[in-house]
Amino acid sequence: MISDVMRKNVENGSQIRAMFQMGKEMAKEFGEENVYDFSLGNPYTPVPEEFAQAVRDCLDEYSSTELHGYTDNRGYEDVRQAMADNLNKRFGSHYTADNIAMTVGAASGLNAILKTLLNPGEEVIVLCPYFTEYRNYIANYSGVLVEVKCDDNLMPDIADLQAKITAKTKCVIVNTPNNPSGAIYTDEVMKQMAATLEAKQKEFGTDIYIISDEPYRELVYDGAKNPFVPDYYKNTIVGYSFSKSMSIPGERMGYLAIGSDVADFEMMMAAVSTAIRILGPVNAPSLIQKAVAKCLDAQTDVGYYDENRKLLYGSLTEMGYECIKPQGAFYLMVKTPIEEAQFVELARNKYHILVVGTGSFGAPGYVRIAYCCSREKIERSLPAFENMAKELGL
Ligand SMILES: Cc1ncc(COP(=O)(O)O)c(C=O)c1O
Repeated sequence: MISDVMRKNVENGSQIRAMFQMGKEMAKEFGEENVYDFSLGNPYTPVPEEFAQAVRDCLDEYSSTELHGYTDNRGYEDVRQAMADNLNKRFGSHYTADNIAMTVGAASGLNAILKTLLNPGEEVIVLCPYFTEYRNYIANYSGVLVEVKCDDNLMPDIADLQAKITAKTKCVIVNTPNNPSGAIYTDEVMKQMAATLEAKQKEFGTDIYIISDEPYRELVYDGAKNPFVPDYYKNTIVGYSFSKSMSIPGERMGYLAIGSDVADFEMMMAAVSTAIRILGPVNAPSLIQKAVAKCLDAQTDVGYYDENRKLLYGSLTEMGYECIKPQGAFYLMVKTPIEEAQFVELARNKYHILVVGTGSFGAPGYVRIAYCCSREKIERSLPAFENMAKELGL
């Protein structure tokens, strides 16, 4: 018999994955061209040629034992130094190889740092709306998830943050650009958040960390500037992933960056290294570590997502849908003029549009449209959105 906890996890499943599966079945039944699946945040744009070339170069340059053996749990030293140098060049930070741990994507980095930080019963604050998997990651280490609500612009409500911090608060997960809202936290919000956390650390005599989950750091539009969170708050742990910026989510590559001035830094880095080992990844994939280090400034075609964003936001707004204009990432949140679950069902069953309700992201009353897809799919879906808008009287 499997454990009760895992039984529950299996039974509750992931709404997003379930929708994605349904989309595949519907495509078989109704034809690929008649189904508009916007459920999953799977990158669509091409992998940069620099990455493919870097993989080929690595295979030529290194001996097989150098390239395919176990690495230090935190990754190759030269790779970690390359990550540090790149961050320092872009953000004026002062990282070295000792501040970096390579991870198996953002997901594994988040798990490693939560395992490192959490005693059972300690609280992790998430800012609505938030990536639903945080719930599972926090539960993995018997942490308690505490939601902080957002304002009408889907920015964190700082007064609510202030009210929710207790002596048991261990960390706050910040995700900007945000999944699912596409919001970029403003300078003002970051300053207020940092001041609040500083004051609460003093009040309770505790260390409160920000975990800055940044897989969408490079996906920003209209010249928006995404805040570099360690500039605002010293006790920040940066979690990064190459999944979206290089369109390589299957390669599972990311890193944690922890500044030397973060509270309990030495022990924290040692514990992260141990967590990577004992949670099972052991180390991030060795070949891909070397490959990304060779092309750190390479990016996928962010302009393509931007065009998708403009087309979808412009068209849906014109049809009468109330949309939150995304500034980053590749998701659009649309207000549901009827009950969220009803809207999701109507869209799927009658119009073959697959979108995810955002109640499980901590912001009910919207759906999330993942526009990391072909332009053609968006164009094809517009008549269906239009007919639905008419049925809803928009
Ligand atoms: C906000 C956020 N954090 C973390 C992840 C996990 O990313 P990775 O594939 O790098 O593990 C995702 C993936 O979609 C995400 O949207």
